[in-house]
Amino acid sequence: MTQTDKNIKKYPAPEHIAIIMDGNGRWARQRGLPRTAGHKAGGEAFRRIANYCRTLGVKYLTVYAFSTENWKRSQEEVSGIMKLLARYLDEALRDMEKNAVAFRFFGDLTRLSPELQKLCREAEERSSRYHEVQVNFCLNYGGRDELVHAAKAFAQEVAEGKRQPEELTEQLLSSYLYSAGVPDPELIIRPSGEKRISNFLLWQCAYSEFVYMNVLWPDFGPEDLDEAIAEYHRRNRRFGGV
Ligand code: FPP
Repeated sequence: MTQTDKNIKKYPAPEHIAIIMDGNGRWARQRGLPRTAGHKAGGEAFRRIANYCRTLGVKYLTVYAFSTENWKRSQEEVSGIMKLLARYLDEALRDMEKNAVAFRFFGDLTRLSPELQKLCREAEERSSRYHEVQVNFCLNYGGRDELVHAAKAFAQEVAEGKRQPEELTEQLLSSYLYSAGVPDPELIIRPSGEKRISNFLLWQCAYSEFVYMNVLWPDFGPEDLDEAIAEYHRRNRRFGGV
């Protein structure tokens, strides 16, 4: 029995894991490399972890790839991240049959380049027939922005007479979020030693377990995910009960 088989037996993986891929810049600085090299290594860590999640039977993997605040970074860094994403989606479109992964994008994509928007749309449309594993990329995503976007969409329908304000419930509000139809993450992981939520999945994290780890994202490997899942299983989830 391999280590992975043992872990699957001992710790069944949560259905939905979300990750703040943090620490790329520090990883690069420690090596005297430009920040973009850190993001490149971060992209490789993402590939590793997405593959491992599939082995573990995780159904949804949500990653924070670019926040509404990340535009404040240098133009060089922003375009470096966008290029990595475009390259990844290009590859994903090419290997779609083989990988059978569904893609969703959470965030306001209208601010992305037309080329990247097209890749996102194509990846989402062409992969919608796969139902086993789903990767959600948070791109130009902010939890507050998501709630504003949802509130506007609901208000618009009220103004058009399609909805009544009294109809609004937690469940109905969820259906206006970028994450509509996706169950909330049971586990949210933040590597790199920072202990903040940074505007990530503010609505969806109501009952998530948070696991903060000291490893930098480009160094994050299957053994770190095993450790996070083991920690998740040590927690006693009560959902407000006793
Ligand atoms: C946070 O680390 C990371 C980001 C803002 C970008 C995340 C992007 C990737 C991992 C690449 C995306 C590509 C694919 C294929 C998924 P930081 O730069 O804030 O690190 P620091 O806190 O050490 O400076």
